[in-house]
Amino acid sequence: QSAPYLNPALPVEDRVEDLLGRMTLPEKVGQLTQIDVLRLMGQDEWDRGPLNPTWMEKILADQHVGSLLSSGGAAPVPNTPETWVQVTNDLQRYAIEHSRLKIPILYGIDAVHGHNSVLNATMFPHNLGLGATFDPELTRRIGEVTARALRATGITWNFAPDADMGRDPRWGRFYETWGEDPLLAGEMVAASVRGQQGDALGPNSVATTLKHFTGYGAPIGGKDRADARISNAELREIHLPSFQAGLTAGAATVMVNSGSVNGVPAHASAPLLTQILRKELGFGGVTISDWEDIKRLQTVHKYVPTYREAVHQAINAGVDVSMVPHDAEGFTGAVLDLVQAGEISEARVNEAAGHVLALKFRLGLFEKPYADPAGATPAVKAGQDLALRAARESITLLATNGRTLPLGGSAKNVLVVGERARDPRSQLGGWTIGWQGLPASEDTRAVTVLDGMKQVVPRGSRLSYSSAVPSKPSADVIVVTVGEPPHAEGEADNPKLALPEGDLALLRDAVATGKPVVAVLLAARPLILPEEVRSRLAALVMAYLPGSEGGRAVADVLYGNTNPSGRLPFTWPKTLAQVPGSYDAPSAAGAPLYPFGHGLSYTTFAYS
Ligand code: GLC
Repeated sequence: QSAPYLNPALPVEDRVEDLLGRMTLPEKVGQLTQIDVLRLMGQDEWDRGPLNPTWMEKILADQHVGSLLSSGGAAPVPNTPETWVQVTNDLQRYAIEHSRLKIPILYGIDAVHGHNSVLNATMFPHNLGLGATFDPELTRRIGEVTARALRATGITWNFAPDADMGRDPRWGRFYETWGEDPLLAGEMVAASVRGQQGDALGPNSVATTLKHFTGYGAPIGGKDRADARISNAELREIHLPSFQAGLTAGAATVMVNSGSVNGVPAHASAPLLTQILRKELGFGGVTISDWEDIKRLQTVHKYVPTYREAVHQAINAGVDVSMVPHDAEGFTGAVLDLVQAGEISEARVNEAAGHVLALKFRLGLFEKPYADPAGATPAVKAGQDLALRAARESITLLATNGRTLPLGGSAKNVLVVGERARDPRSQLGGWTIGWQGLPASEDTRAVTVLDGMKQVVPRGSRLSYSSAVPSKPSADVIVVTVGEPPHAEGEADNPKLALPEGDLALLRDAVATGKPVVAVLLAARPLILPEEVRSRLAALVMAYLPGSEGGRAVADVLYGNTNPSGRLPFTWPKTLAQVPGSYDAPSAAGAPLYPFGHGLSYTTFAYS
């Protein structure tokens, strides 16, 4: 007769209670600990063989660590689906075999636009572009495909969907949001949760993570992780609804905001993490810290004098799991010390560990802890059609002279200009293989704008490419692809909403030729173009960060195979004076350039 906790027929609560009753305090504290696998080992570890036994013994056997993660860009070498599933299965097997009670581990990753850590995975548009589709069903299906790819590679916890609000386009994570509107964001967050988890957590689900709770999207000055000054009314009207919608859809976990709200770091805020999240919103799942953010209460926020006090404040405020992410002993030692001193109650440890164990039971990990290696590659490559559909639906036609687009017809000779038309890094954006985007040393499968144009250029039309604008172009139309380099988090802050100088120069050179110029933006936010350039464009197309199939989607819209249907999920400011707050346009600083919901389509009578 096996112990009750091993009986899947029993209610999860009973299994949790039985298991907790058998665990030692160090084993329970291990469940509160999440360690970054690959970053700690560094890439050279992989050269010496898949896993370092001493590391595994310390982390998984000695420290009983309950979950692992691969932080942005950490990947096994070679970075293939087969290697991923081999590594995660090896780690899982080691963990279970070295756990007295056979407790499996969770494995977390940031799959924010497909399984974006794996080379040649299908990459979907980032959330901002999905917001422009206003299509929750599409978002749900993307969640479904992503979850399948994750489970097929042994990943059971996804640090997605982002539920932050896009209130300041200068902020480096604006593209990870669904735009400025709480209703739209809520619909999309809920759809993503349902897609990734299904109607209930099960062996095909991944645990979703609503991040970053809350108010992270309104940092002062649009500077990532700056303090957010938010009134109670704004907190409830703007920054809570998307989380509420995600919780109603059954989100399994919530990640805490690294920043502070009205001067109080979220990781130390019982009002946010217990009063609002637990008591008011009734959340019963796992709360997890963001990267090293308990320690950063001391080292960054200077909110507490010691690491021990940081652990004391965070765990008692309501953080269940610490994404440490490296010093397991430091964290578990501090918790054990605080429990012995009576500053953290064993009941609090049981509550946090219980949330983690309940999640493991619900994901079926005690019954089916391993992924099937045969399923990894097909699952990671699935969804190209869905990604193309999403990119097509996201592209937003901002302005047109009514005759240059769609191409074809009179435009027999099209010249495509700009490196971004043939380098997929800008269309893929951040969180792509590398944390800050596709590293120069790597290549991943993508259809670039130029690839796409070549696929759809009609017979009888000519298509040519140049990285710079030629002095006397013979083309009928010039398509200039400009945008932002891929970045993530603070590195992606853009305080002036400016195009990089080189991109702006390309636009200037193109309009200076006097030829009709179509500008395609591969951007993470609304950018402010100089009026004298923008007003001379034949058309302006916002493609956001459209993913691995994005170049084909751009080409389909430019050649009219797809009638553009994207609508802005945010207000496009005309001047910096309108930011933040352009969503309340017309603000004192005048009307925005394009309002929320703006987007044009080709209409037959206008395009003879
Ligand atoms: C990062 C991000 C968070 C991500 C985590 C793990 O710093 O803030 O969104 O899930 O660390 O990579």
